[in-house]
Amino acid sequence: MIYLLRLIGFLSALGFTAITSASAAGVLAFTVPDSMAQRTLACTVCHGKEGRATNAGFFPRIAGKPAGYLYSQLLNFRDGRRYNKLMSPLLATLSDAYLREIADYFSALDLPYPPPQAASLPARRRERGESLVRHGDTARDIPACTACHGAAITGTEPGVPGLLGLPRDYLNAQLGAWRTGQRKATPPDCMHAIAQRLDMADVSALSDWLATQPVPVPAKAVLVSASPLPIECGKVPK
Ligand code: HEC
Ligand code: HEC
Repeated sequence: MIYLLRLIGFLSALGFTAITSASAAGVLAFTVPDSMAQRTLACTVCHGKEGRATNAGFFPRIAGKPAGYLYSQLLNFRDGRRYNKLMSPLLATLSDAYLREIADYFSALDLPYPPPQAASLPARRRERGESLVRHGDTARDIPACTACHGAAITGTEPGVPGLLGLPRDYLNAQLGAWRTGQRKATPPDCMHAIAQRLDMADVSALSDWLATQPVPVPAKAVLVSASPLPIECGKVPK
């Protein structure tokens, strides 16, 4: 019941309204101060307190990711390039400018990460995962993940997110969704090209290795180096 009241309250907060609500037991009136932290409480129901998430399940952390990346994902969900049945409707009526503010807010948060997950695959499979991350696989034209996601795998500005501190199930789901075309990015969609070259064993090896790495401090994305990306990716929207 409390959970439901909070969710209803938070959802209206997102639409800028102060809330008055009645509980079954009596009248419970409360007003929500108009700050970004309050307006985005709806998001924290799933993404964890202040958007930090946990090391389990399908919910990605959003705190501290590059603002350009978060903004393009919010546009992707709103405009149908990505879909989540609970989340997409929340964004349907929000303007570009407001989504940009939300992205800036979560990106600026600098919060501790959850501990890494425990390994679930044998060492040989995990070595394959690490090798793909650091070197790719030239025989199958797979570039190293670090070429775009950064040597420390903490992401590169403005549009490439870090890959550490994310749950294994989430990573598996995203790479799977790109392989099948369920998740799309602004074209040219380099992750679609890469995911199609991975087989399912590669996907689980990558996810297992990535999810079990500690997140370095600082975990912020680094600036892009001068060298061109190995495959062209879509630009972050202005
Ligand atoms: C009902 C649960 C739920 C709520 C509420 C919710 N989200 Fe999400 N969100 C998810 C799930 C699940 C995903 C992963 C979806 C997928 O598999 O692509 C996601 C993905 C995202 C991503 C992409 C992250 C990444 O690394 O690519 C962003 C950004 C995001 N949500 C922002 C928000 C914001 C901002 C709000 C509040 C307006 C919000 N979410 C509310 C469940 C939720
Ligand atoms: C050519 C550059 C490039 C390479 C190489 C690359 N990525 Fe990406 N990756 C991106 C970009 C750009 C995005 C953001 C896409 C978007 O806007 O949705 C991304 C996003 C992702 C995401 C989504 C993260 C999230 O929070 O939802 C995952 C997972 C991912 N990449 C895994 C990998 C793995 C694993 C490899 C190596 C096998 C790899 N990437 C190699 C450019 C690259």
